[in-house]
Amino acid sequence: MRGLVALLCCLCLLTTSFCVRHPARTLPKVANQDHNRYVVRLKEGKDVRHVHDTLASEAELKGHTFRRTMESRKRNTMVVEMDLTALDMVKTHDDVEVVVKDIRLDPPQGNPDVVMTPTDDVPWHLDRINQRALPLDGAFSFGNKCCRGRDVNIYVIDSGIRDTHVDFQRNGVSRVVHLEDIIGGAGFGTDCLGHGTAVASVAAGGSYGVSNQASLFDVRIFNCVDGTYLSHLEYAITAILDSGSPPGIIVMSVTAFAPAYDDEYVPWITSFNALATQAVNAGHILVTGAGNDADFAEYYLPASSGFVITVGASSKKDKICGFSNIGYAVDLYAPGYALPSASHTGDTEVVLRSGTSFSAPLVAGLCASLLGVNDTLNHSAMLDKILEDATDGALINVEAWTESVNLLAYGTPLLHNC
Ligand SMILES: *[C@@H]1O[C@H](CO)[C@@H](O)[C@H](O)[C@H]1NC(C)=O
Ligand SMILES: *[C@@H]1O[C@H](CO)[C@@H](O)[C@H](O)[C@H]1NC(C)=O
Repeated sequence: MRGLVALLCCLCLLTTSFCVRHPARTLPKVANQDHNRYVVRLKEGKDVRHVHDTLASEAELKGHTFRRTMESRKRNTMVVEMDLTALDMVKTHDDVEVVVKDIRLDPPQGNPDVVMTPTDDVPWHLDRINQRALPLDGAFSFGNKCCRGRDVNIYVIDSGIRDTHVDFQRNGVSRVVHLEDIIGGAGFGTDCLGHGTAVASVAAGGSYGVSNQASLFDVRIFNCVDGTYLSHLEYAITAILDSGSPPGIIVMSVTAFAPAYDDEYVPWITSFNALATQAVNAGHILVTGAGNDADFAEYYLPASSGFVITVGASSKKDKICGFSNIGYAVDLYAPGYALPSASHTGDTEVVLRSGTSFSAPLVAGLCASLLGVNDTLNHSAMLDKILEDATDGALINVEAWTESVNLLAYGTPLLHNC
């Protein structure tokens, strides 16, 4: 049945609202395959503008549909909308390495999250990553509140960030910068979904986040209704690399079903890994959620990439959440159930959110604080440090056959003077 399952690909936000025993393997939501968007990768050294223009005029002459999209010409890749006759023409062009159908992301879900009244209590997710064992002690003393993540950039590839929320203000100035908006519509960087605001909050919020002094860079790939594409994720990473902004932590809480056993997905896996390698070589640290499919994370992008830190979700009782993807591709686990975080609907509003989407920014926040005290940490040194610091054996429901690690994120208290 794998072949069939593979056709039902999707890229979805890693949000969910339950934390139960592993249910039966849930199929990824059926993606809308009714689109004619293709990613065309050129052979090494070919000029994308030249090839694009040649193909476009050839298509026009022959009456084929061949439309460039917004991110149509980036490095050696172009994304085009075309009909099947144009597809045949493009596939056989000498300069073209491979043509793959874009992977559509699901339209984002409605908001299943619980609005809560703000309190002064230390959020449980911060409390938990600051101690080895339960019960919680009500404190979060990882590093100095005045400098956690100071001068570190966290790039949030998501649905935008509500920059006016109090969780992102420092001395009356927002720490959010809108770097790129691939979607448009609602206004540059405007979060009409809430997912990106919550991710930013957990990574770097003043009340709900780890690196409360970090700068947040918003790269928006999700809107409120129409979903998006895997090519947008690649474009977003490329945009960060090409922006000239200093290296930092890139958190991308999205997932696409893309198993290596299916040839259809191999070009995607290859190209994503090549891009992730470039990002890592440029000094970035990439962090993603494992996915909420109650499945093995190795079948999903970006979770399966060896150049990305992949984080599964745990509960208040130190259980791996039933929805969380598991297996050897998950590097470690972090709280991912009912995390209080900034809401996109009001500047002081708070919501409880669940999903590996929110485990990833917790670890991203830890990475940002670590980078803040040691800017020589690259991907492999950071991964080593995060795994070395993590609490070994805290999770109570790890099953050996799943090849999952039993590591829970932990922030070894930082000493810094600021
Ligand atoms: C900083 O990180 C490097 C690894 O990149 C490590 O060798 C070094 O000991 C770290 N420095 C401190 C002060 O922790
Ligand atoms: C990462 O840092 C480690 C230790 O500081 C170093 O040995 C290694 O070569 C670096 N890797 C890259 C890709 O820069």
